[in-house]
Amino acid sequence: MDYLDYQFVDSEDFVNTYDEVPLWSASFGLLLLKHLELKANQTILDIGSGTGFPLFELAERVGNSCKLFGLDPWKNANLRAQEKIKNYGISNTTLIESSAENLPFEDQSLDLIVSNLGINNFDDPDLVYKECHRVLKTSGKLVITTNLHGHWKELYEIWYQTLHQIGNESYFKMIENEEAHRRNLAGVYQLFTNNGFQITKAVEDSFTMKFLDGSAFLNHHFIQLGWLTGWISLFPKAELQMIFAKFESNLTQYAKQNGGLNLTVPMAYIAGEKL
Ligand SMILES: C[S@@+](CC[C@H](N)C(=O)[O-])C[C@H]1O[C@@H](n2cnc3c(N)ncnc32)[C@H](O)[C@@H]1O
Repeated sequence: MDYLDYQFVDSEDFVNTYDEVPLWSASFGLLLLKHLELKANQTILDIGSGTGFPLFELAERVGNSCKLFGLDPWKNANLRAQEKIKNYGISNTTLIESSAENLPFEDQSLDLIVSNLGINNFDDPDLVYKECHRVLKTSGKLVITTNLHGHWKELYEIWYQTLHQIGNESYFKMIENEEAHRRNLAGVYQLFTNNGFQITKAVEDSFTMKFLDGSAFLNHHFIQLGWLTGWISLFPKAELQMIFAKFESNLTQYAKQNGGLNLTVPMAYIAGEKL
């Protein structure tokens, strides 16, 4: 009962890793932690474990009869995650700096693979599903959370309105393609079933993100990281000022008329069993 000796030791080092989970990841991770069945004595892999969420939360919720691995090719995220292992005193988890396209595990060696906002957005999700199938034991589970087609539908309507005003059909098509790359639930099911899994549980949910106006939205650091760079890359440099001035102004007008820029994020938890 080592926990009886616990004493909180305040330090800059501890505080550095205490306070961060991106809000974006949190909504999906909470969905995963709510619906995941917890079992003792499992070997578990989190694919795309980033800075350690929900990997460490899961590691602590299942405890030391389970052995966990977090896998991500992102070096700096792994360094941060390693700091958390030290500061949280986690002893059942190992980090691996690698891509899930070639999993460093024996065939049939894992009980559970989870991926929060991971696999579905990778360059070659089919290949990663196949690798998951190879390394899972028969009846092992692959559990993912993902955003779905319909993501920020309000915002995409404003994109289409803006690009109609500009009158360039090819720009319209580019945003349409960018929106379309997110799968609907049937598309996600296909990734499972085409790669040797049967769906055992699926839960749909959604949440709303509210912004004051277009300027706040486009200057938000996480929006810039996750979306803005992608949108900027779609258009010619010389047109960017004009396109984004109109887009920002339309977002702000929408926000004024609707009590804020309220953006809906549909999400899903999907579990599959290896056949
Ligand atoms: C949207 S982030 C999610 C991170 C974390 N799971 C969370 O919920 O905050 C996607 C993660 O997948 C990682 N990733 C991208 N391609 C990958 C691959 N081929 N194999 C494993 N991880 C990958 C990225 O480095 C990133 O950390």
